[in-house]
Amino acid sequence: MRGRAIGSWWHLARRFFEVATARRLNEPERSEIASWLSSAEESTLFYNQPIADQRHAYRAANRIHGLVPGRVDLIRAALFHDVGKRHSGLGILRRSIASALTKLGFPLRGKNAAYLDHGRLGAIELETLGCESVVVDFARSHHDGRPNAISVDDWRLLEKADHPGKPPHPQPPAIR
Ligand SMILES: [Fe+2]
Ligand SMILES: [Fe+2]
Repeated sequence: MRGRAIGSWWHLARRFFEVATARRLNEPERSEIASWLSSAEESTLFYNQPIADQRHAYRAANRIHGLVPGRVDLIRAALFHDVGKRHSGLGILRRSIASALTKLGFPLRGKNAAYLDHGRLGAIELETLGCESVVVDFARSHHDGRPNAISVDDWRLLEKADHPGKPPHPQPPAIR
């Protein structure tokens, strides 16, 4: 499941460090995020994430904002793409273990499986809240490859924002 979900070992190490050193969002950052949210429900969804995931999402959204400030849909796609991670309830160490086990080809169950399925789980919630299609589609697909509904340029921006140092995913088959 999700064969490309965990990326390179280097990416795993970077992500571990990012999570371990994450700072709580400060007031100016929270104000900026508020300007990108459409409802109280979205705010609840965002802030129900662990601190490290909030920080990761803000960084990704801010990178998009710096490149294409008028593309609020892409900013929001970056902001919400990992909201499904919280369903697993896994901490930093167990997340890393789950990713490493998948990379080594072990099948996962329970919380570990939920962690690796976070894209689909988040997409369901975002769709229920009525988010834009790119927000839902990026959450669902961000570990699997570009869906036809997202343009190549938008996908590259989003991937780069999510993982600045990671090579882009290979293109998926035309029919999925
Ligand atoms: Fe993710
Ligand atoms: Fe991410």
